[in-house]
Amino acid sequence: VLEKSSLTPLHECSAELNKVFQDIWKRLELAPATRTEAWRLLTLGTWDGVTPQLRTVVLRSAKPELRELWIYTDRRASKVPQIQQHPHVSALFYDPVQQIQIRLTGDAYVESDPAITNSLWSALHPGSQKMYCAPYAPGTALDTPTVNLPEELKTRDPLPEESAVGRANFAPVRIVIQHLDWVYLKPEGHLRALFEFKQQQWQATWAAT
Ligand SMILES: Cc1cc2nc3c(=O)[nH]c(=O)nc-3n(C[C@H](O)[C@H](O)[C@H](O)COP(=O)(O)O)c2cc1C
Repeated sequence: VLEKSSLTPLHECSAELNKVFQDIWKRLELAPATRTEAWRLLTLGTWDGVTPQLRTVVLRSAKPELRELWIYTDRRASKVPQIQQHPHVSALFYDPVQQIQIRLTGDAYVESDPAITNSLWSALHPGSQKMYCAPYAPGTALDTPTVNLPEELKTRDPLPEESAVGRANFAPVRIVIQHLDWVYLKPEGHLRALFEFKQQQWQATWAAT
């Protein structure tokens, strides 16, 4: 159990603990652009009022100065009302090569500013925009195995006028991080560190694995 008094402002922590923190954010920042990077995928945990719900999503961007991670989803997906009703979420990243896990908690917000949503939408490759043109809401029960795309888009990317329909289904989600739990499995001994944004600053401590 973490003793409150053991958390120390990062600037008063050891260089090594600061390096861990910098390294976490550097990996999160680089991962979205690198297809092979394990941290490009995360397991997002939401609460549906009865059960913790987990699913894999793609990390789209990370902003250390704002403590933010961004993911994109379909507005019709069940995670959207879950986040709106219970904004407190958790996320899990694991890199099996580096043997580094981070688990984080924070508050998630479905982006409601059309200007921000438009600019993120415009930056998406047509092949990614296509996914939001799905005719059926995610999770809709279907009689047969069905690729959820308009017939004409099953074999090609949409033209701008064809992907416009997807814009209404496109929901960027911002996660503002409060806690980070870092675990590093090393042959010479495992390490763990905890970080919490508290009193307007990041605080940290080493912890038992
Ligand atoms: C490798 C992989 C990447 C995925 N990336 C996303 C994503 O970025 N956004 C998303 O909404 N769903 C993504 N999914 C689908 C989700 O895991 C999930 O099935 C879907 O979003 C419905 O979840 P929900 O009903 O909890 O909202 C991905 C699935 C896989 C297997």
